[in-house]
Amino acid sequence: MSTNRVYKLDGTGRLHGRIAIVTGSSSGLGREIALAIAREGASVVCSDLREAARPDGFEEDKEIPTHEVIKNNGGRAVFKKCDLSHTSEIVAVIQFALDILVNNAGLWMPLRDFVEESEEQWDAMFAINAKGTRTAMQEAIKQYLRQPIDEISGSRGRIVSISSAAGGRTAIRREATYAASKAAVAMLTQNVALDHAKDYININGVCPGVVKSGAAGINFRTPEIITEMRKTTPWPRLGEPSDIAKAVVFLCSDDAQWITGQNLAVDGGFTIGIPL
Ligand SMILES: NC(=O)c1ccc[n+]([C@@H]2O[C@H](COP(=O)([O-])OP(=O)(O)OC[C@H]3O[C@@H](n4cnc5c(N)ncnc54)[C@H](O)[C@@H]3O)[C@@H](O)[C@H]2O)c1
Repeated sequence: MSTNRVYKLDGTGRLHGRIAIVTGSSSGLGREIALAIAREGASVVCSDLREAARPDGFEEDKEIPTHEVIKNNGGRAVFKKCDLSHTSEIVAVIQFALDILVNNAGLWMPLRDFVEESEEQWDAMFAINAKGTRTAMQEAIKQYLRQPIDEISGSRGRIVSISSAAGGRTAIRREATYAASKAAVAMLTQNVALDHAKDYININGVCPGVVKSGAAGINFRTPEIITEMRKTTPWPRLGEPSDIAKAVVFLCSDDAQWITGQNLAVDGGFTIGIPL
């Protein structure tokens, strides 16, 4: 078994004793993030529209819900249903002592030129990616402000939000509204971090390139698209959910205490230039 798959439940995990919420935890990046956080000893509230993983995803054991995988390995986890487009459901899920919020749930709608996009698509992507992230951030901060600064971590709490390579780093053809909604996530991260650094609250973001998940499944099942993606990714392989989960774990760890307001590109160099 690869060492980063070992559950450190003996007090040696980097997130030992912490309580974390991961939104969109049933599939893809969110599932891998929830598993990685649990392996580092945190108790995880797995939160999603539904318990079951997307049937078209690439996850191991995808017929077993994320929180059950964690429990089957001796970790601590529960499932709480939460639709990020409903403020009342976000408030209900973030109402107890908490150390870590990972805003992962997001909506990406099929590619098209901007002129063909509908107002409904704008509203749907902004409702979840921008407003849902904003509300979850605000509820977590309200909770953190009721808590003391943790003596070990030196932080009151941490928020990591999943933006995108498209979220302000570079333009990607036929993703205008998605990109704008993810740029909102990246700028919320920077601005909210500035407001709450004085409160010892760490707020960071991760901007993935294309990663193998159900949402990006069409790309990874089409050989011609794989060839194109390889051409635009300087690193010699494409992204896996574990690449994102490792970055999130680092940003949630005590090693990242003096890091706030950053949007970390985890994209195999996709946003640094075209490797042709
Ligand atoms: N996969 C990629 O290539 C990629 C690249 C950049 C950014 N991202 C971002 O990473 C995040 C995860 O994407 P993924 O590829 O794992 O997607 P995915 O579709 O595989 O998984 C998303 C999960 O979020 C849940 N979800 C969707 N809408 C929700 C809502 N309203 N409330 C609660 N949960 C909801 C889904 O049920 C699903 O379990 C998203 O924010 C996405 O925009 C993904």
